[in-house]
Amino acid sequence: MADKKEIVLSGIRSTGNLHLGNYYGALGKFVRMQDDYDCNFFIADLHALTTNPDPRELHANVKNILAEYLAAGIDPEKSTIFIQSDVPEVAEMYLLLNMHVGIGELMRTASFKDKARKALGIGVPAQGDDDEAFEKEIIGAATNKRVNAGLLTYPTLMAVDILIQKATKVPVGKDQEQHLELTRRFARRFNSFYGVEVFPEPYNFDFGGKPVKVPGLDGSGKMGKSEGNCIYLVDDPKVLRKKVMRATTDEGPKEPNSPMSEPVANLFTLLELTSTPDVVSHFREAYADCSIRYGDLKKQLAEDILAVTTPIRERVNDILADDAYLRRVVAQGAERARERAAATLAEVRSVMGIRKF
Ligand code: TYM
Repeated sequence: MADKKEIVLSGIRSTGNLHLGNYYGALGKFVRMQDDYDCNFFIADLHALTTNPDPRELHANVKNILAEYLAAGIDPEKSTIFIQSDVPEVAEMYLLLNMHVGIGELMRTASFKDKARKALGIGVPAQGDDDEAFEKEIIGAATNKRVNAGLLTYPTLMAVDILIQKATKVPVGKDQEQHLELTRRFARRFNSFYGVEVFPEPYNFDFGGKPVKVPGLDGSGKMGKSEGNCIYLVDDPKVLRKKVMRATTDEGPKEPNSPMSEPVANLFTLLELTSTPDVVSHFREAYADCSIRYGDLKKQLAEDILAVTTPIRERVNDILADDAYLRRVVAQGAERARERAAATLAEVRSVMGIRKF
């Protein structure tokens, strides 16, 4: 019987170990989607190149993520697991799609501004975005290889990952939503320019309905590698407990039903993701009537996080040690991913008028 399941595609960059943000924004959803969709999960090693990693570390990082995917329960019999650079069709289509992408829209992408500002050491303007000043800084730094063209065209490559597989569901965290919006725009533009419905429009997917942003435990913002505030899936329990116990809080509510400060709200966000509804309402009530002890909340949170991470941590080393298995998984994955990628690329080449003699 033909496979009519909806196509799902998502990936994670190979830039280090996976953290709770990656888990709740992406990996945890991957595992839960496997039975109901045609799932394709990859390791975005080409995207990792935008920050010029040490070549000696790149492969080990790819291997780590692969092992963490498998340890978390992605099953290669149910899902296609592959490495981005094993599908050369992606690189060719990246070139082709770039012909329909404006540099202006890429320069205004939040993730590009963020990364470029960090690389150049420019602060974020206090009052909104100043596009003109930013563009001048970037162009002034044109010879500075820290802001490379790959960083600028990052959204094109991501769009190609999705469109080349004709995926319609893309489970990602909130920080990737703008990239998905661009992908839809590129798809529509391509289809209408050539007058052919080559690409379907992809959307984010989350079981809870709305995309998550996992906060850091240092008071504000999101959990992320460059923020240096990550709780890793492979963190040793002692280390993990220490990180949670050190989370920023405040002096505690002084009056019933006080509004929550951001650091405390962040703790509750994590609690909602990891703990049972009973536990969450217990602490919410304790906050509302001022009897809350943050130490108790943190202890509970640490144990509930460990319940999620421990099975993954315990499996990962065995998987990492089995090179033959890992090779089999990615070889099979690459073959499957290339089949659909090659078909889409052939269609794209033909639509664009690239013909063989
Ligand atoms: P990356 O590697 O930055 O992150 C991988 C996934 O983890 C999610 N994530 C978070 N979700 C919620 N809260 C957080 N604090 C948090 N931190 C990370 C991200 O939203 C993402 O889902 N561009 C992508 C990789 C990529 C991709 C694709 C994804 C390349 N091509 C095609 C989907 C489809 C990225 O950099 O993710």
